Amino acid sequence: MNVTVIGAGTMGNGIAHVFAQSGHAVTLVDLDQSRLDAALGTIDANLGRQVKKERITAEQQEATLGRIATQTDLARGVSEADLVVEAATEDATLKAKIFEQMDDAAPEAAILASNTSSISITQIAAATRRPDQVIGMHFFNPVPVMTLVEVVRGLATSDATYETVRQLSEDLGKVPVEVNDAAGFVSNRVLMPMVNEAVFCVHEGVATAEAVDTVMKLGMAHPMGPLTLADFIGLDVCLAILEVLHRELGEDKYRPCPLLRKMVAAGYLGRKSGQGFYTYD
Ligand code: 3HC
Repeated sequence: MNVTVIGAGTMGNGIAHVFAQSGHAVTLVDLDQSRLDAALGTIDANLGRQVKKERITAEQQEATLGRIATQTDLARGVSEADLVVEAATEDATLKAKIFEQMDDAAPEAAILASNTSSISITQIAAATRRPDQVIGMHFFNPVPVMTLVEVVRGLATSDATYETVRQLSEDLGKVPVEVNDAAGFVSNRVLMPMVNEAVFCVHEGVATAEAVDTVMKLGMAHPMGPLTLADFIGLDVCLAILEVLHRELGEDKYRPCPLLRKMVAAGYLGRKSGQGFYTYD
């Protein structure tokens, strides 16, 4: 299958990695060639980890990289796609614009999927003339490691589109879970209030970030504490998701903590910016 991935950030490069690794021809699209080059470097390094652990061979690493082409022009990048997975910035206006352009340039039969973490698939689909072929394909970071794909059905998503994406997710070695379209789906509707509450604990002086994380790691057997996880996801991404939950579901329990807003305003975005609840090299 020809798979095009839009956006070469953390999620985009992980998604390109897993599709290429399972034998698909992948075109990775971003506006900026330097971001594409950086993404290929990250994919190479992550494949290198798998080689070191003897999960794949050096030949498979080379073959996987060889299946990934890059493109800075969106229309050209989707022109031969059977499936497009959009993993651009979490912004509803931007996504609607990208889907409109993809709808114009992709083959008629192509499925247009979004890796959005909280924006309505129904709303994204309405920007196209093929809402029955639009679906949410929500991966989790780090994509090569996490086995879940939350498959989100918009109001008009057809059974045929759902079935293709479900099967494809299984072929990638993932476990697809069917979810209907609602703000934050299941994953972030459940996860983000916990992250936000952890930020409120620090904001209100209940405990330090380290203490909150230790409580949740050792007391609840989470692999990462919620604030380490927030840094890992990106504090800007967490804030954007909470804003969607708060606006769409209209309840105070989703109100983003003022400390989270302040940190994002200061450019403390977590691991990717070097500073979040913790400092990174
Ligand atoms: N690519 C390939 N392999 C990777 C990798 C990557 N990017 N990152 C880690 N790995 C591999 C390692 O090589 C190692 O492999 P092994 O099992 O064969 O030894 C394995 O993953 C574990 O990695 P490490 O030993 O380096 O470190 P940890 O044991 O601490 O695990 C972790 C790291 C897998 C990230 C673990 O801490 C974890 O599961 N954290 C929680 C992650 C999580 O919750 N993600 C979801 C975020 S929410 C989201 O993405 C949705 C969005 O909408 C917000």
